[in-house]
Amino acid sequence: MDELKGKVALVTGGASGIGLAMVRELLKNGIKAVSVVDISENTELQDSRVTFIKTDVTCKKQLQAAFDKTVATYNQLDIVVNNAGVIDEIDWKRTIDINLVAVIEGTYLALRTYLPKYKSEAEGVIVNTASVLGLCPLQSAPIYCTSKHGVVGLGRSLGGPHIYDEYKVRIVTICPGLVDTPMTKVRPASSSKLLFPDLVHKEFEKLNKFAIKPEKVAQALIQVIKEGENGALWVVEDDEPPYEVVVPHRQSMKS
Ligand SMILES: NC(=O)c1ccc[n+]([C@@H]2O[C@H](COP(=O)([O-])OP(=O)(O)OC[C@H]3O[C@@H](n4cnc5c(N)ncnc54)[C@H](O)[C@@H]3O)[C@@H](O)[C@H]2O)c1
Repeated sequence: MDELKGKVALVTGGASGIGLAMVRELLKNGIKAVSVVDISENTELQDSRVTFIKTDVTCKKQLQAAFDKTVATYNQLDIVVNNAGVIDEIDWKRTIDINLVAVIEGTYLALRTYLPKYKSEAEGVIVNTASVLGLCPLQSAPIYCTSKHGVVGLGRSLGGPHIYDEYKVRIVTICPGLVDTPMTKVRPASSSKLLFPDLVHKEFEKLNKFAIKPEKVAQALIQVIKEGENGALWVVEDDEPPYEVVVPHRQSMKS
């Protein structure tokens, strides 16, 4: 996809942090319209091209209704970004429901139903937000890591050539490093939703040099929409430009 002008996108979790920056970047790049699909509204997003659709992504009916409302409004859908996510190691089933199950639902709705029917060009695009924690462990957030490993596996599997031939939809997975958003504002240990709250600072220190701004992830989104290969994983972290990673075959990983 070379051009965002004239395209319609749906972004889950678009009211805050990375998703909000993504919506703004899509608008900056001339997108025709964006549906912001989120459980909480952001009243700062005042643009006639934005439709806010209050949705709990864990409720399949609500998520499907958000897709329906988008295509009823624009009779078009080209790009779907499954981005909503949380870190909650205490209510960990909720983490799996939001970060993984809802991403699977959103991906399937986009891939099998809405993008093939409503894309305005030959090809539609799905971008799923995973994390570098989909590629490495973190003791403080094992379930978050599990959910993001799932999103990575989903994108690699659905991003295969047979599925592409059937649906003409590309799937790219973005893996941000540490990003400065409300999610990463560290809470007092007593109210933390992490497993070992005291450990998290040490682990984060090893994970990345610093927290990047959400705008950097949003710029990477535009790049992967335009040039990310089907099934690819793109990391965006620290002061490096976004880069693609390839998971090696297990035989080459023997210790
Ligand atoms: N912040 C980071 O360091 C970081 C790093 C890598 C990946 N990520 C991922 O990026 C994505 C965005 O995270 P963020 O840092 O911008 O966090 P954030 O908390 O700023 O934004 C998350 C958004 O998701 C929405 N959301 C949460 N539960 C929802 C639900 N059930 N239904 C609909 N919307 C819901 C929230 O309302 C919020 O607007 C997440 O998938 C997160 O896992 C974040």
